[in-house]
Amino acid sequence: MQFPRLPQTAIVRPPAPARPARWALPPPGANAENKAHAPVLEPSGFRILSIGAAVFVTNLLINIDHVATLRNARAETFPDPVHAAAHCEQAGADGIVFHLREDRRHITERDARLLDKTVQGKLDFELSTEAEVVSICCDVSPDLATLVPERREEVTTEGGLDVAANRARLAEVVPRLYDAGVEQVSLFVDPVPAQIEAAAESGANCVELHTGDFAEADTDATRREEARRLAAGAEAAHEAGLRVHAGHGLDYNNFPLFQNTVPHVAEVSIGFAVMARAILGGMESAVRDMSATVKGSRA
Ligand code: PXP
Repeated sequence: MQFPRLPQTAIVRPPAPARPARWALPPPGANAENKAHAPVLEPSGFRILSIGAAVFVTNLLINIDHVATLRNARAETFPDPVHAAAHCEQAGADGIVFHLREDRRHITERDARLLDKTVQGKLDFELSTEAEVVSICCDVSPDLATLVPERREEVTTEGGLDVAANRARLAEVVPRLYDAGVEQVSLFVDPVPAQIEAAAESGANCVELHTGDFAEADTDATRREEARRLAAGAEAAHEAGLRVHAGHGLDYNNFPLFQNTVPHVAEVSIGFAVMARAILGGMESAVRDMSATVKGSRA
């Protein structure tokens, strides 16, 4: 199949901030020359419009783990998350996210390596600090590595990393990722000042704010309160010189409130809501095609 090429968008880079040493970009990794993708690595999301104005644009990265979940449920070769990633990019995604879990319940090492070769935009490799997964991530050398907590029994990622409790392991893993050519290292954290401070001290140059509590709020008042917590977290991260990402549970309904309340969000990572809509949105044409297959020759 043909893989899509993203339109090139002019990026306005704001004046380079005085970067602490941890922002110094390492030399490209050993396999960087094999990459298909041309990542968007600007420190914030300003873009020039054709009329010359600069606007802040939040990039959309799509998580394709659930495509692999469906494939693996039948031990099949399809639907292939690599094909799904190409469709996502064709439809305007700025990049692709996958989580190579320790138990390989959805994305496999084969997927990770093929996605690295085929994704044209930004590639975000989510991982725990487990040794083997870290080695694979270093070998793949994605544009962005997002470190997340992981428990085998969980259905999905349940909350942010306890950065302070993992300080020693992060002190090994974060520099290793930079040394492998990963330009952005992000820690998935709750919007809690102590975690954001610890993230900045860890050497990571990005944080992904966990939006799960915001998404799961059961009243409007609670959701607005969670949005304010996220806004304070985003301000703190920005002040600490960290690039701000966000994700978990964002959907078509809750995104407007999130966007109107939380500043500095350079990119969001969204999976479940998009995959759920894709299944229902594609249902009629899939059934129409099968109906034509089953009845077509006798109609
Ligand atoms: N960000 C992180 C760190 C995640 O673990 C997940 C879930 O895999 C997401 C974002 C996307 O969440 P959702 O699938 O609910 O959009």
